[in-house]
Order: sequence, then structure tokens, then C-alpha cells
Amino acid sequence: MKEGVLVILLFVLAVNVMAEIKDNTGIDLSPENVEMGKVVFMNHCRPCHGLKYHKPDPIAPLMDSEQAMDVFGVVPPDLSLMARARGRGLEGAFYIYRLLTTYYRDGDGALRNRAFAEWGGGDGTTAMPPPIDADDPELHEKALSVASFLYTVADPVYHERRTLGIYVLSYMVVLTLLLFIVNKRTWKDISS
Ligand code: HEC
Repeated sequence: MKEGVLVILLFVLAVNVMAEIKDNTGIDLSPENVEMGKVVFMNHCRPCHGLKYHKPDPIAPLMDSEQAMDVFGVVPPDLSLMARARGRGLEGAFYIYRLLTTYYRDGDGALRNRAFAEWGGGDGTTAMPPPIDADDPELHEKALSVASFLYTVADPVYHERRTLGIYVLSYMVVLTLLLFIVNKRTWKDISS
């Protein structure tokens, strides 16, 4: 019986540790960072992309779709749900971070993107010019914060769910301990 309790405790611990590992992408969902990401979005992404599911108000792109079609040959997608569309958990946000930071030039000098190639399976050619300059000393910081912001747009109840998860886990640990104690007391006279 003791072993059973131990297994449950270890399982709970493992779930916790796995959740931490999954978060180890540099994506930071603290309100300050998300707010900073919104500023980055307004400055670097809004010229082309909108957020129609942004709360409380939708954010329209500055460029209309016809103009964009003329310039890029494709309409820049709405980014409201992009962070969920490109991976599970925080992976989608991490993809956005990588998309912004893995531009390179191939042997012929053509602009390519590593993350886009991995996602699409193509050669990495994308119609999106690098939104944040590669020489910008804050490139990585800005890319991480805008990715974090886009994550919260795609999954607005993240914080509530996470808090609930922690409550549920604590409840399980307390219940396990109580059952353990009750079990010991019940069998005290018999087993010894
Ligand atoms: C100058 C216009 C422009 C700006 C500014 C811009 N984008 Fe884009 N973006 C595009 C276009 C065009 C595409 C479509 C690319 C394609 O399909 O080849 C795109 C596609 C994307 C995609 C989808 C890639 C995929 O996997 O399909 C993401 C994510 C994205 N942009 C994020 C951003 C972020 C974040 C910013 C701001 C930091 C930004 N973009 C700024 C034009 C822009």
C-alpha cells in the first residue's frame, strides 16, 4: 500500500516537472512582458497583420488586403490564433519567436527562413520580409515578447487554466496524504 502512495506522489511530481520543462522556451507570459509584446506588435507587425479576435477590441491591419496582395502576392494572415495553429502548448509561440529570428541568405543571396522551412517543408522562401531588423540589438527580446503576447491572444484563458491546474494538483497531494494517514490508522493494530 505504501508503494502505491509513493507511486502516486511521484506521478504528481513528474507531471509538475514535465509542465516546467514544456515551459522552458523563453516564452514569458507575465503581464509586463505581454504588454511589451503588444507594443512590439503595434510597431512591427500591425502594418501588415491584424488581430480580429483581440480582446476587448479587434486590431485591424494598417494595410488592406488588396494592397497587400499587390505587394506580397499573398494576404498576410490574421495572427489571432496563429500561436495555437503552429504547435501545442507554448510550441506555437516559440515557432513565432523562431520565425522572427531565423532569417538567412542562401548561397545565391536569396532571403530564406529556417523556421518557415521546417514548418512548411519548403525551401524557406517566405513573402514576409524580416519584421524586426537582424541588427536590432533587441531582436531576441522583442521576438520573445511579441510571441508571448500572441500566445495570450490565441489562448486568453491560459492564466486561469494554469491557476486551476495548480489548485487541482495541490488538492491531489493533500488528498493523497490524508488517505495515507487514514490508511495507516485504520490498519495500525492489525498490521503490527
Ligand atoms: C511588411 C509586411 C509584414 C510585416 C510587417 C509582418 N508580416 Fe508576418 N507575414 C507577412 C506576409 C506577407 C506573410 C505570409 C508569408 C507567406 O505565406 O509566405 C506573413 C506571415 C506571417 C506568419 C505565418 C507564417 C506561417 O507559418 O505561415 C506569422 C506567424 C507572422 N507573419 C508573424 C509576424 C509577426 C509576429 C510580425 C511582427 C513582429 C510580422 N509578421 C510582421 C507580412 C508581414
